[in-house]
Parts: sequence; structure tokens; C-alpha cells
Amino acid sequence: MTETAQQETVEEIDLTAANRVIDKYIDMHGSLMPVLQGIQEEYGYIPEETVHLTAERLNVYASQIYGVLTFYAQFHLEPRGKYIVRVCMGTACHVKGAGRIAETLRERLGIIHAETTEDLKFTAEYVACIGACGMAPVIMVNDGTYGSLTVQKMGDVIKKYQAMD
Ligand code: FES
Repeated sequence: MTETAQQETVEEIDLTAANRVIDKYIDMHGSLMPVLQGIQEEYGYIPEETVHLTAERLNVYASQIYGVLTFYAQFHLEPRGKYIVRVCMGTACHVKGAGRIAETLRERLGIIHAETTEDLKFTAEYVACIGACGMAPVIMVNDGTYGSLTVQKMGDVIKKYQAMD
């Protein structure tokens, strides 16, 4: 790939929001965590450029920041979907067919755990018990909970979100 083509394919990240977050916490003791949380809230993940910006402005090494980002599961280094589909893989859900539910997600959207669809609409996550065992098998889509799922119902839930923006 030529350099020009490469530049065209790399999407520029607007750092305005990241700078705003850093401005807010820069004078605070222990500012790194709130800065990273704020950046993730703004962008949905932690873009590489914001790591370098944070390192420069907080006067820490980028490697230290990556250490924090990889230690805490709450941080994501890749863009994620607008809708996070959490498939419960806890014992109750497992027994009641969570595997079939995950398989339906894979068939319909082509994603398995930790994958995101190309249009950045859906990310799949397999999670431990989400505390709704009475309705197993259960998924969550962002804040919405869907229980007593069958393959048919799971398909309907996916369709519902596909139809949404
Ligand atoms: S095991 Fe799935 S909600 Fe508890």
C-alpha cells in the first residue's frame, strides 16, 4: 500500500474530547484512572492516539498507561459496537441452552465472544451469571434484559436491534 493510500485508510481521531477530559482531571491526584474512564466514555474505547496524548499531558509513560489498560477488564482498546450483546454463560443459563443462544448470535451476526460486527453495530460478550437465573437462558443488550430465550426469541431480539439505528 502506498503511503498516501495508507493515510487515507487511517481514520483521524478528533482529540478535542480527550483534551477536555484531561483538562478536567489534570490537577487531581491520581488522575490517570478518571482520565481513561472519561476517554472511554467519550469514544466507546481507548483509541491509541489518546494514550499518547494522555502520556504526554500527564507526564507518564505510554507503557504505564497500557499496563493499566490491560490490567482492568473495563477498558477496551478496540472500537466496540453500539449494542453490546452479553450472553450469560453461567451455570443455570448453560444448562438451559446458552450455547444455542450464542450459536444463534454467531449465525445471525457472524460474531462470537469479544468480536464486533464490521458496521460497529454489535459486539458479543460471553459473561458469567448476571443474576437473573430464574429466566435462564438470559442475554443483555446494553441495559435491556431478555430471558427465557429460545432460538426463535433470540432471533427476534437480534432483528429488533438490527432495525434500530
Ligand atoms: S446463570 Fe445466567 S443469569 Fe445466572
